[in-house]
Amino acid sequence: LKSSKLIYLNKTSELRSLDKSSCLLIYDLVLEKKFKSFLKSWPRRYGVESGESLKDVKHFPQHIIKILTLAEGVSTKNLHIVSFGGGSVGDFSGFVASVFKRGVELSNIPSTWLAAVDSAHGGKTALNVGPYKNQIGTFYPAQNIFLIKEVLLSQPKERDLEARGEVVKMALLNGQSLYKSLNRVSQPISSNEIWQNLPKLIAGKYTIVAQDPYETKNIRYLLNFGHTIGHVLELQLGLAHGVAVAYGLRFAIEFSRDKGILTELKWLEENLVDCNLPTLKELVLKLKKLKNIESLLAQDKKLSQNKKINFIYVKKPGRCFVKETSISELIHFMKVLKIYG
Ligand SMILES: NC(=O)c1ccc[n+]([C@@H]2O[C@H](COP(=O)([O-])OP(=O)(O)OC[C@H]3O[C@@H](n4cnc5c(N)ncnc54)[C@H](O)[C@@H]3O)[C@@H](O)[C@H]2O)c1
Ligand SMILES: [Zn+2]
Repeated sequence: LKSSKLIYLNKTSELRSLDKSSCLLIYDLVLEKKFKSFLKSWPRRYGVESGESLKDVKHFPQHIIKILTLAEGVSTKNLHIVSFGGGSVGDFSGFVASVFKRGVELSNIPSTWLAAVDSAHGGKTALNVGPYKNQIGTFYPAQNIFLIKEVLLSQPKERDLEARGEVVKMALLNGQSLYKSLNRVSQPISSNEIWQNLPKLIAGKYTIVAQDPYETKNIRYLLNFGHTIGHVLELQLGLAHGVAVAYGLRFAIEFSRDKGILTELKWLEENLVDCNLPTLKELVLKLKKLKNIESLLAQDKKLSQNKKINFIYVKKPGRCFVKETSISELIHFMKVLKIYG
């Protein structure tokens, strides 16, 4: 996979390395108010409503027609698509760049923590087909990724809390150094603290992607840590993605502990609360609200051939692994948790 250039900036006005006359900026309309003059500096721009419907393949032809019109006058060779928004805008724009005229240049300006830490990196682009998420896509890494403090800090405070899910995930996947620096942050984590840890968090993702760029070896799959139960909670209780993932991580930790897999138990226990994860009690309260978990888990898109869940366990920070696990085992453990909770 081609590697992306990471460019850290304080303000949007510092972004000067692109020739904007050959760029087409695809941006989230939500950013229009806060970044008026920055947006005006891009002669070709296309505002979109973010979210899953932007990624819906059925709207794709209309988008392409607008993009075609906007791109008129720039040679295909020079055309550069720049995505300015969260993960949905990034997945969409990346897909556009990868197929438009058989591929044009791409840069990302992530505007959410999720995009800055996770989705802007690693080259996965995606569209949805009806209710099925990310079923159409390409591997197409951005040439440049601009991480702009002013943009990321423009998110509302609740978003910092939502970010903790992916932040703690990356720390547990990558282990000691990142984990330790995250332990020194406040609770809940503040935007400045996420910003300060951003280079390490991003490096964490690249370490995993580099070992398995096209997801053929179950290594890249590790990035789904905490997402099995996280997705169920997100869907059923309408929790924000990152919040749901934080619960999913707590579940994976407790499950790993129950199985005797989690070895550095004491150390981890002493540090978990500081690491912004929900407590066991909070997890139990959420699980109690779930109905038909069994059928929901059976819909997991990442079921193995023999219909088991590819569950991600943690042995200690920095040592996570995937193992096929039956749905009944997970359900049984949820029942045990509710008895203790
Ligand atoms: N490609 C990948 O590797 C990858 C990885 C993880 C997730 N994803 C995808 O990312 C998407 C989720 O990402 P997301 O949460 O960033 O989604 P999003 O783009 O839907 O943004 C979330 C919300 O934040 C708003 N927003 C964006 N920037 C803002 C700002 N600076 N201030 C205020 N509001 C702002 C958006 O308008 C939207 O309402 C999903 O579609 C998911 O499938 C992709
Ligand atoms: Zn996630």
